[in-house]
Amino acid sequence: PRSIIIDTDPGQDDAIAILLALGSPELDVVGITAVAGNVPLALTSRNVRVICELAGRTDVTVCAGADRPLIRPPVTAEHVHGKTGLDGADLPEPSMALDPRHAVDFIVETLMERPAGSVTLCPLGPLTNIALALAREPRIVPRIREIVLMGGGFFEGGNITPAAEFNIFVDPHAAARVFSSGVPITMVPLDVTHKALTSRARIGAIRALGTKVAEAAAGWLDFFERFDVEKYGSEGGPLHDPCVIAWLLEPHLFAGRACNVEIETGSELTMGMTVVDWWGVTARPKNAFVLNQVDAEGLYARIRRAVARL
Ligand code: BDR
Ligand code: CA
Repeated sequence: PRSIIIDTDPGQDDAIAILLALGSPELDVVGITAVAGNVPLALTSRNVRVICELAGRTDVTVCAGADRPLIRPPVTAEHVHGKTGLDGADLPEPSMALDPRHAVDFIVETLMERPAGSVTLCPLGPLTNIALALAREPRIVPRIREIVLMGGGFFEGGNITPAAEFNIFVDPHAAARVFSSGVPITMVPLDVTHKALTSRARIGAIRALGTKVAEAAAGWLDFFERFDVEKYGSEGGPLHDPCVIAWLLEPHLFAGRACNVEIETGSELTMGMTVVDWWGVTARPKNAFVLNQVDAEGLYARIRRAVARL
């Protein structure tokens, strides 16, 4: 199986991504690191453990990382994810412990110990932990197989400001560091995730599995879609983070192209904007493979299969 570290700020869509990974034998989840994002770190590091316990995977290493962005003040998204970040399912407080290591130490140690090119990083939240790891130990750069991240948007615009997507907006300086690192990057922007909408049929198919995990997953999706459906009259909620894991499992479900991507860190108006040179109008180096299409039916079928395995 392919070894991955998931760096995350759950978040209902993060939770579905984690279930998708844990329910897929093609992936070996070496560890899950929490970062401040959708809700503060105390909650994201709790939520990761709630999800692991639900999945029956108390053996997974879970570490807490950065409690705020590198430079800018924290921004959270309780308006989307609820007070706990994981509203929608009624689950017990976790009893599994956090690993005592800081997430950044865990990421660096894992990459230095394991064979070079064997570990993929999957960031599903602000990129603070990843940027700190790159700064702390630059020797990890050639050892990372790839970074596959949910963040940004280009033709689709932003979701937290007109220009910026949440994960990049919250820590644009960390994002700039990651995109200029030289590590191979696959970027899953809003252009993809806004095509991966929930629907009654898609959530119903998961709930119909009838297990405890399926019930929780369906409850999270019901809660999560409310924001987009009520606020924007959208058909469903965009299932952002699971697209990262699905790309590793079933790349044929997606399409994209190699582009230059730069991150705006200077302008308050467009702070955190991902400037994607989709048409190749500059000679700037192509530093990311940017996805823009997904087969949503295939994605939801794959999620359902993973949930069924847990
Ligand atoms: C991203 O922000 C969070 O709210 C979601 O979990 C996702 O990672 C989408 O902009
Ligand atoms: Ca997230």
